[in-house]
Order: sequence, then C-alpha cells, then structure tokens
Amino acid sequence: MTQVDINPDRLADRLERLGRIGETPTGMRRMAFTPADVEGRAYVAGLMREAGLTVRTDTAGNVIGRVEGSVPGLPAIGIGSHADTVPNGGKYDGALGVMAAIECLQNLKDRSVATRHPIEVLNFTNEEGTSFHTWLFGSSAMAGALRSGDLTAVDVEGVSLGQRLRDVGGDAGRIHEARRERGEFSAYLELHIEQGPVLHGGGVAIGEVTAITGRAALSVCVKGSANHAGTTPMPNRRDALLAASHVVQAVNAIASQEEICRVGTVGIARVSPNAENVIPGVVDLTVDFRDVELDRIAEAQRRLREVCRGLASDRGVEVEVLEHGVTRPTPMNPGLRRVIRAAAEGLGLEVAAVPSGAGHDAQSMAEITDAGMIFVPSVGGVSHSPDEYTRPEDCANGARVLLRSLLAVDAERD
Ligand code: GLV
Ligand code: MN
Ligand code: MN
Repeated sequence: MTQVDINPDRLADRLERLGRIGETPTGMRRMAFTPADVEGRAYVAGLMREAGLTVRTDTAGNVIGRVEGSVPGLPAIGIGSHADTVPNGGKYDGALGVMAAIECLQNLKDRSVATRHPIEVLNFTNEEGTSFHTWLFGSSAMAGALRSGDLTAVDVEGVSLGQRLRDVGGDAGRIHEARRERGEFSAYLELHIEQGPVLHGGGVAIGEVTAITGRAALSVCVKGSANHAGTTPMPNRRDALLAASHVVQAVNAIASQEEICRVGTVGIARVSPNAENVIPGVVDLTVDFRDVELDRIAEAQRRLREVCRGLASDRGVEVEVLEHGVTRPTPMNPGLRRVIRAAAEGLGLEVAAVPSGAGHDAQSMAEITDAGMIFVPSVGGVSHSPDEYTRPEDCANGARVLLRSLLAVDAERD
C-alpha cells in the first residue's frame, strides 16, 4: 500500500486557525448558531473542499464532506466530531476530531489513495447543546433520535431552534431528511481529547474508548416571591435563591455522599429579577447527572424530585423539575476497539482502554452503525475551559491512529 501519513504541522496550524474563530480573552465562544459558529463552519467547509470532498449541509445543519469509494455500492465510513464550543471553552474539544478527519482525507488525496468505501467527514451541529437543551442535536437528527421538544426549543433570547437552524443552513421543517438509515454507514470513528486525567496522568498516548457515559439533562425552576430586600421581614420571605441553594447542595450530595450516580452538576443558575435589593423571585437551574448505568441515573432523578418536593413544602416555594433528555450509556463496537488498538500498537504507541465521562456524537451514531472512539491526552485533565490543552504531538498521534483505523476498516469491511 502507498505509505500515507498525516502532516502534523498542517494539523496544528489549522487547529490554531480554527481556534482563533470565536476566541475571546476568556476562552472560546464558538457556541452553536453564533456568528463565530457560522464562520467556523465556512472554514471547515473550505478545508473539506481542498481535501477533494463534495460538501453539503443537511437539514440539521451538519456539514458533510464526502468522497466516493472505488467499489460501487459500499456504505460510507463516517469520521468527524463537532466544531461548536461551550461558553469560555477550549480549542480542542470537538475541533480536533473535525480537523484530524479532514487531515486524513487531505493526505489520501495528496497521495492519490482511493478507499473502497465512500468516506464522509462529519461536522455535527450543536454537540454541546448550549443555548437550547438540545445537545448532540446534529448527530441525533442523523440517527433519527431527536427528542420530542427538540425542535420547538427556544433560547434565552426567545429565538426558536428552527430559526437558529436556518442561520446555519438547516431546515427544521424538513429535519427528517437529515436522517440516515442503518446500512448507509459501515462504521463511524471519532477522535477526541479525553477531557479527563487518565491518559495524561499515566503518560499513555492513546485511549481506546470502552463506552460513553449516560446522562440526564434536567432543569429545576424554583418560584418564590420577589419583594423588597429592605422592608420584608425575614420570616415573611419566600426566597427562591435560598431554596435553590438547597437544590445545588442536594445534586452534589446525590453523587458525592449518597453515591447514587457518578457525577452531578448544576451548571447554570438564572436568578430573576437578579437585582441587589430585590429578594429573588424565580431561579432556574440546570442539573446534569451522569453514570455508565442507566438505573443509577434514574435513581438520581428520583432522589432529586424527592428533595424538591420536600423543599416546596418546607419553604413555601413552588419547585418544578423538567427532564430535557436522557442519553443511554453506549458501549463502543468491539471490532472497532480492536482496530483502534491495533492501529495504535502498529505505530508503537502505548494504548489503554478508557471509558468516556463526556458525551460524544459517536453515541448518537452508535444507534445506526458501529461506532468507535480514539482519545488523546488532555493536559491536567482540563476541558470545557480556556486552559484545555492537548500537545501537538498527541494531536498528531491521534490523527495517525484515526487514519490507520480508517484504512483498516476500509480494507476489512463490506
Ligand atoms: C459534552 O461535551 C458533554 O457535556 O459531555
Ligand atoms: Mn466534544
Ligand atoms: Mn464538550
């Protein structure tokens, strides 16, 4: 076989360039549907074209670059990730998977290597679910796994997801057209930073992912009554923020003390009216519970609802708990795990089996095809932060393992 490799300098340079789109002094702000996201997508699409791919945007806003294979009728192999970020996020989460996928295809083109299968590079819409509670939006649409309410969601500015989708070339009215059937893909491979401390701490170059954690995304709305902070005696208050503080404590305790699920986080607290001299009337919180066992996530939810009922009666507030979606824990395909391990070992890289504590588009794709994930070390295990960093040599290692795995899957599968 013609010797193919990736170009580490070009990969590092392009990651850096993408990382300047939406960069602010407090980190990356290339959240889905923002002008920075639109600019990032245009950059990605341009690189896809340079790599010889035919580019289209599906009705879910996913940017898809495709090259045909040499054997007619074979299903495509998908590789990719997402280019949106969390607010004040880093330059590697998602971006590495997209840039490395394009890098692989650029090298195949440069060396005139044709694959047997068509290859599709996938840049998914709104993996992070910022603005709406619709994380994994693009990959869920592709897998036919959108949740009820996903399309009617409205962001804090009161703009519907349908409108936001139009801004990135999608079409909520024809969202079903983004759906791909089982059998259209032979496999899906995703390179991603680990976002946890295991690989970096152990000095291991490559993680082959065993399974992706499950997650429940919830919100809690606490309603008390807004009143004057100077004149309202303490016993007469129905302070929504005070009650909400008990929810925050409970979410932490459910994971850390009661050990019902692995982790629990309140990431957003919106206080209304949010004024210094007004007792908070309404507080909206988000709650994120994760575990590799679905039953434990369900038990954490049950316990949260129990705590909230208690708060409502003890503190005279109204508490409403809403579920915005539960994603099941997703094992990675055993055959692809072997391929990834062999690819890493063939390159002389140490490889360890690791679970994913973060969610990924691969878990949606696993609904319609075999999915596998490659992890590379995150320095200090830091992610969803401007301090997120993966060394260029680790990015290059990951891209090489992706390319080798892609070629092995292409050679092995029909
Ligand atoms: C996605 O990045 C997640 O929150 O796991
Ligand atoms: Mn990600
Ligand atoms: Mn992320």
